[in-house]
Amino acid sequence: MNILILGSGGREHALAWKIAASPLTTKLYCAPGNAGIAQEAACVALDLADHAAVIAFAKNYGIDLVVVGPEAPLCAGIVDDLEKASIKAFGPGKWAARLEGSKGFTKDLCKANNIPTAAYQRFKGAAAAKDYVRAQGAPIVVKADGLAAGKGVVVAETVKEAEDAIDMMFGGGLGMPAWEIVIEECMVGEEASFFALCDGETAIALASAQDHKRVFDGDKGPNTGGMGAYSPAPIMTAEMNKRVMDEIIHPTVRALKAMGAPYKGVLFAGLMITAKGPQLIEYNVRFGDPETQVLMMRLMSDLVPALVAARDGQLKNFDLRWYDDAALTVVMAAKGYPGAYQKGTPIKGLEAAAQVPDVQVFHAGTTAEGGKILATGGRVLNVCARGKTVRAAQARAYEAVDKIRWPGGFCRRDIGWRAIEREK
Ligand code: AMP
Ligand code: GLY
Repeated sequence: MNILILGSGGREHALAWKIAASPLTTKLYCAPGNAGIAQEAACVALDLADHAAVIAFAKNYGIDLVVVGPEAPLCAGIVDDLEKASIKAFGPGKWAARLEGSKGFTKDLCKANNIPTAAYQRFKGAAAAKDYVRAQGAPIVVKADGLAAGKGVVVAETVKEAEDAIDMMFGGGLGMPAWEIVIEECMVGEEASFFALCDGETAIALASAQDHKRVFDGDKGPNTGGMGAYSPAPIMTAEMNKRVMDEIIHPTVRALKAMGAPYKGVLFAGLMITAKGPQLIEYNVRFGDPETQVLMMRLMSDLVPALVAARDGQLKNFDLRWYDDAALTVVMAAKGYPGAYQKGTPIKGLEAAAQVPDVQVFHAGTTAEGGKILATGGRVLNVCARGKTVRAAQARAYEAVDKIRWPGGFCRRDIGWRAIEREK
């Protein structure tokens, strides 16, 4: 098969690494890709917002399957457009992608189907929203509807903070004025990410993971896209995984099918494991980044037949095998991230790092220039390792990190600490 991956991050490098290893893959392309992906796939400069250009490329190069990484093209309906042009694509259509694109849509779907999630109300204006906040009290969570690149959520500790967040969101503080916000109850528990593969009707569990969102050791400092992750999440026991499938994933897939918007692709549930059990924080309609990097390290089976089965509605009797080992990834970012950072700093020692056993280095923001690898993004590398325990995987990952010579970069030194405490 000729396969085209859309995207350019560590997630797409991990997918490219796994797809390139499949005996079913004849030729692999990635648009736009990065310097690491270029070791697995032919990178092509396509604008993902230009669906006609992606379709034209797929036709010209005989693409048998397009695998979409990021949410923006999914929410913009790239899968619908590709399928209309008779090109098979992995991922949800625009209608089903509202699970990530609209928080209000997802909350209403949960309510109508008894899916456990925080109590909430939707608001189109600040006055009513503030009345509600005053009536409910703090802590309380304020969320802007629509894609906000992870910045649209404020967990307010006081009523004043919540009121300020409401003014900020309706006042255009997120780039443009929010047209609707959701205000919800603040849930207490431990967070975990859960991934399922769906074919419109059937869903099968993939694996769980946990990530570290804060930039500094000890989970301190501002939020980022994720500074590291590990899989599985120790809190996700077999029983908890089953509850998530039965109480959250299956009812969601059934509801979307009944609505005429069957969900195909990866369903990524952000969960709060509370005293009452698992509750949905939010859905993403794609693979997680950096969670996919650790998932791919643990997946023993070939990924390609799974993607095809999801696209074709054939997951019913499908089964995937996983390594029991843990996997962990350390994100290396440019100094200054998530604030302003320098671009174009050189990275050395990548070959030596990749030689540490059970280690893979996935690139996020890199480019190759005159035989050198240069950093071009905020999050730049994902140093991933597998081990019998999270502690063993962590030791391997940092052994590899220490072989990378990049004065312009930094990483956290404590990725996995919570899981390692539990292992003691
Ligand atoms: P989201 O963008 O919806 O994933 O929210 C970002 C982060 O805000 C989550 O990872 C949680 O840490 C936190 N969060 C969101 N909603 C809630 C909630 N209802 N209760 C507690 N924490 C929340
Ligand atoms: N790591 C969180 C995400 O991919 O949204």
